[in-house]
Amino acid sequence: SWTMLNIVEDAVAAVRDQIGEGRAICALSGGVDSAVAAAVVQRAIGDRLTCVFVDHGLLRKGEAEQVERDFVDATGVKLRVVDASERFLKALAGVTDPEEKRKIIGREFIRVFEDEQRAILADGPVDFLVQGTLYPDVVESGGGTGTANIKSHHNVGGLPEDLQFQLVEPLRTLFKDEVRRAGEELGLPPAMVWRQPFPGPGLGIRIIGEVTRERLDLLREADAIAREELTRAGLDRDIWQCPVVLLADVRSVGVQGDGRTYGHPVVLRPVTSEDAMTADWARVPYDVLSRISTRITNEVREVNRVVVDVTSKPPGTIEWE
Ligand code: XMP
Repeated sequence: SWTMLNIVEDAVAAVRDQIGEGRAICALSGGVDSAVAAAVVQRAIGDRLTCVFVDHGLLRKGEAEQVERDFVDATGVKLRVVDASERFLKALAGVTDPEEKRKIIGREFIRVFEDEQRAILADGPVDFLVQGTLYPDVVESGGGTGTANIKSHHNVGGLPEDLQFQLVEPLRTLFKDEVRRAGEELGLPPAMVWRQPFPGPGLGIRIIGEVTRERLDLLREADAIAREELTRAGLDRDIWQCPVVLLADVRSVGVQGDGRTYGHPVVLRPVTSEDAMTADWARVPYDVLSRISTRITNEVREVNRVVVDVTSKPPGTIEWE
C-alpha cells in the first residue's frame, strides 16, 4: 500500500543516515522481526550489511531453507550460514532441565555468533548491530536507545574483549502487524512474514527429555504434518500457535498392522491468544484433529498416540518447558 511504502522508504532513509559509510551485522533467527529489520538495512546499505544465520538444528522443517534460500533470493542480502547443529547437540547431551536447556542454547548461540563476528571483522571494522526491536519492546523496556555490549567468553579464546556496537533498530516505531506488512512490501517470503510465534530455543524445549537428533527428526515430521493440516483447514489466522510436543521419555502400548507397538505420544497444543500473556486452548474442529492424528501415527514411526492439551494459560504455559 501507499502508506506502507512510505513507512518502508522512511525507515530505509533513516538507516542510511545513521550508518553512513559504515558496516553492520545482523543475526537472523528465521523469525519475522529480524528478517524485516535486515531487509530494511539491506535496502539502505547493500553489501555493507552482513547477516549471520546460526542454524542450531532446532528449527522446524523447511525453516532453515526459508532463510538460506528464499530470504536471500528475495532480498539479495549477504549471508553467512553456520551449521552449528552438531555443536548444539553436543552441548545439550544428557540435559533434561528446561531452564538449563535454555541457558545452554543461549550461550552456544552467542559463542557461534562471536566466532562469525571475528571473521567478519577481518574484512574491516563493524560499528553497527541490527536488531528487530518493535515498538512494544521499546515501551516495555522504558524507551531509550543504546549500545549492545556483547561480552566475549574467555573460554572461546582470541576474541575482542568487549565488542561495542551502536544499535540499528529500524522497526522500533512499528507494531507487529505493521512489521508484517512492511515485510510484504519488501517482498519477503509469505511463510516468513506470516509465521506464528516460535521460541528462540526452538524444538529443544518441545522435546520433554533429552534432545537427540533422532528425536528432533521425529518431532520435525509430526510438527510439519500438524502445520500442514492446520493451514489446509484455513486456521492459521485463528490460532495463535500450535506447539507439537514430543514426550520422549513416555512410551505407551499400541497396535498397528498385526503388531504391538510401544511408541511415544505427541501433544498438540493449539492456543488462541492476544499477546501470549494469557491463552485459551483452541477449539480445533474434530475432523481436523482427526486428520492430524491419523497422519502423524501413520507417517511418523515411533509415534503411536496423539493427545490434545486442553489447558488454558494460566495455569498452563503455552510451551511445555
Ligand atoms: P509460554 O510458554 O511462556 O510462552 O506461555 C509464551 C510465548 O513465548 C514463547 N516462548 C519463547 N520465546 N524464547 C522465545 O523467544 C523462549 O525461551 C520462549 N519460551 C516461550 C512461546 O512460544 C509463546 O509464544
